Amino acid sequence: MDCSTTQRCVCITSGVCAQEVCHSHACPALPQVTHTECGLDTLRRFLFDIASISADWSMANVLDEQLAAVHACVGPDSHTICALSGGVDSAVAATLVHRALGDRLHCVFVDNGLLRYKERERVEAVFLEHLHLPVTIIDASERTLAKLAGLTDPEAKRKAIGAEFIAIFRDFATQLELKLGTRPAFLVQGTLYPDVIESCPPPGSNQKHSHTIKSHHNVGGLPKDLGFTLVEPLRTLFKDEVRSLGALLGVPKPFLERHPFPGPGLAVRVLGDVTAPGALETLRQVDEIFINKIRAAGLYHRIWQAFAVFLPIRSVGVQGDCRTHANVVALRAVTSSDGMTADWFHFDGAFLADVSNTICNEVRGVNRVCYDISSKPPATIEWE
Ligand code: XMP
Repeated sequence: MDCSTTQRCVCITSGVCAQEVCHSHACPALPQVTHTECGLDTLRRFLFDIASISADWSMANVLDEQLAAVHACVGPDSHTICALSGGVDSAVAATLVHRALGDRLHCVFVDNGLLRYKERERVEAVFLEHLHLPVTIIDASERTLAKLAGLTDPEAKRKAIGAEFIAIFRDFATQLELKLGTRPAFLVQGTLYPDVIESCPPPGSNQKHSHTIKSHHNVGGLPKDLGFTLVEPLRTLFKDEVRSLGALLGVPKPFLERHPFPGPGLAVRVLGDVTAPGALETLRQVDEIFINKIRAAGLYHRIWQAFAVFLPIRSVGVQGDCRTHANVVALRAVTSSDGMTADWFHFDGAFLADVSNTICNEVRGVNRVCYDISSKPPATIEWE
């Protein structure tokens, strides 16, 4: 920072103590992180009092800008494919692009075999009845699970799923080309800013090597010869902002309030080989019990994300009069505002006991339930 200038100069610098030197201002490391005491107040003072920036950023402006950006990117004639995952992000991205392009948008929902309990049926109903988005459903579970068989490394799993997704989209584009007489050249994705941050080196950092935390399937996991130009209208937004944008676009509230679900689906919640016998089926049942209990206790909206994790280990138990050697599952529930940091949710003991008893009684092959009490950092939200 050049302190010789008489002009007011402001910047936010990690690791520099709050001080004022020759009209230069700096503030402490990571004021935006929820855990930083008075972090928001520091940012407010910095932006509004010191930098004299006005708070004129509005979601309506974002919507107008993004509609214009989609028009500019896709042009007047081209067609676009959008992959709906059943989550909030892709639904909001699709609704926005549908508003911009109308029937030049072609939505596809891929059942890759990694969906939650009855997810395909539930999502299909929401798209058709509430979002009024025509969607083609593709059952690609066999081909995706075949690619995952035997893979245990989390990054390898992510990359395999990403590559298969793209192969499926290319097939879909070929079908559309036959029907429309022109090949869709664009792919809409609900990529958010945290996906970008965690998959790439920070912008302007000049880092040659990424400090990749994980290859989010829609950022780091894409092949170089994609064959589509990406349209990512949510790329600069955080989850809470996407929910506000969705509300502005008329996406129904219960859908917007759904907990986030990661693109690679249950593959990041079955540790190790996703195709291990019974793993996905067991996980679906456990997850459904946990989420239903959370809803019944009126806690769903107080939690950012809750889910079950299937562990590739067995432990000894006793059920009835018999010794068992059965699966262990973990439960995870966190509070967060943007998924970048998170705290574990403090359920009361009676709730956890009830969930654990129900799971062990109702899900064959599970004899032990653990509750994850790690925050992010040091853990991430998903186990992978
Ligand atoms: P982590 O595990 O990184 O997760 O703390 C932060 C949030 O991101 C979600 N997540 C993903 N979402 N594609 C997505 O669309 C992905 O590859 C992906 N990986 C993690 C995760 O569920 C949490 O909400």
